[in-house]
Amino acid sequence: MRLGISRISGFYKLPPNARLESIAEKAELSREEVSWIEQGLEINQANMMVENVIGIFQVPLGIATNFVIDGREVLIPMATEEPSVIAAASNGAKMARGAGGFSTSSTGPIMRAQIQATGVPDPFGARQEILQHKDELIEAANEKDPMLVKFGGGVKDIEASVIESRLGPMLIVQLIVDCRDAMGANAVNTMAETLAPRIEELSNGKVYLRIISNLADKRLARAKAIFKANDIGGADVVNGILQAAALAEVDPYRAATHNKGIMNGATAVVLATGNDTRAVEAGAHAYAAVGGKYRSLTRYEKNGNGNIVGTIEMPVAVGLVGGATRVHPVAKANVKILGVKSADELSRIIAAVGLAQNFAALRALVSEGIQKGHMSLHAKNIAVQAGASCDLVDIISARMAAERRISVDRAVELIRELGDKKN
Ligand code: MEV
Repeated sequence: MRLGISRISGFYKLPPNARLESIAEKAELSREEVSWIEQGLEINQANMMVENVIGIFQVPLGIATNFVIDGREVLIPMATEEPSVIAAASNGAKMARGAGGFSTSSTGPIMRAQIQATGVPDPFGARQEILQHKDELIEAANEKDPMLVKFGGGVKDIEASVIESRLGPMLIVQLIVDCRDAMGANAVNTMAETLAPRIEELSNGKVYLRIISNLADKRLARAKAIFKANDIGGADVVNGILQAAALAEVDPYRAATHNKGIMNGATAVVLATGNDTRAVEAGAHAYAAVGGKYRSLTRYEKNGNGNIVGTIEMPVAVGLVGGATRVHPVAKANVKILGVKSADELSRIIAAVGLAQNFAALRALVSEGIQKGHMSLHAKNIAVQAGASCDLVDIISARMAAERRISVDRAVELIRELGDKKN
């Protein structure tokens, strides 16, 4: 049913309502699901999500096309305020299609919670004590979430280590929790809080922190794609991308921007599905620094055929149950559009989008430069800023892009000129 659906020619030329109709047909959205997207979040729903609500802050939602992930055509909902991100993701996915798109894998949905025992008189002895009581602790934690255990999740292991700090040694106990389809913060925090008194007893210390770690290094998502030299502009572009990638592997100044580009794509899908953008961002950047030096999350190599092999590995802690994903109507519709059945699958799609986004940025950066594409899309924003009415925005932005004169001053001139013609 979903065969070939992500390749929609001329999608960008349609007006928004026709685009939604097209997506509704391809993703088999019901009329109700379409209305969720049309109406968006309502104030009474927002009021149940966070505190002190006074309104709703809206962000554009678009669809990235061309994605084939693990042999499946996937339409990617992306919520972002940045022009050119969705176009670039679609472009990156198109360049990967020639060799079959993206293949993915993951470590599974495992999170860590930390329990910090301080003032422990014999931290190494206490560590052993904790590990000797591992089964008892796992059982006590799992009793707190029988539902998660029923679905095959729950605490799977307990680790303990002594960490030297400037306030002396601390015993850090970590719960290793399979969160299944939940992002898991609530589940693991509850478990950590439950075990804290017993950890105090066993260690003779005082527990302060008992909280999830967002460095989700046991919840890694990976994606790989081959970008054929002929599809991306030839051998010089291949070499340029390898040069750009090599810099991002060793220079944190470039790596930060390189990874920001990855997160342009990843965060937009995390947000569109009602997931915790800050958790995924924190995990990605912490993972990028895990070796002691901040580095890029993607790798690019040239294979024997002169094509580029791109890979990404990053923590992606997202869920399909709990949190806003099941509450926010647009997030619910977006999950349906993605056609995902598990949080793990969603995390792998997000990694693939990150890779597509990064590749498209690098390709543009080493060839025509980022501003050409970016500025022509940005031209619409400029036209609006200059006060263009809806019917003039497209005309004025196209004129400014063609003239390569994209500025508020030029937009004001064009509004005057075109407005005069209309009258
Ligand atoms: C802009 O939002 C993202 C880029 O700067 C990423 C990059 O430089 O790789 C284009």
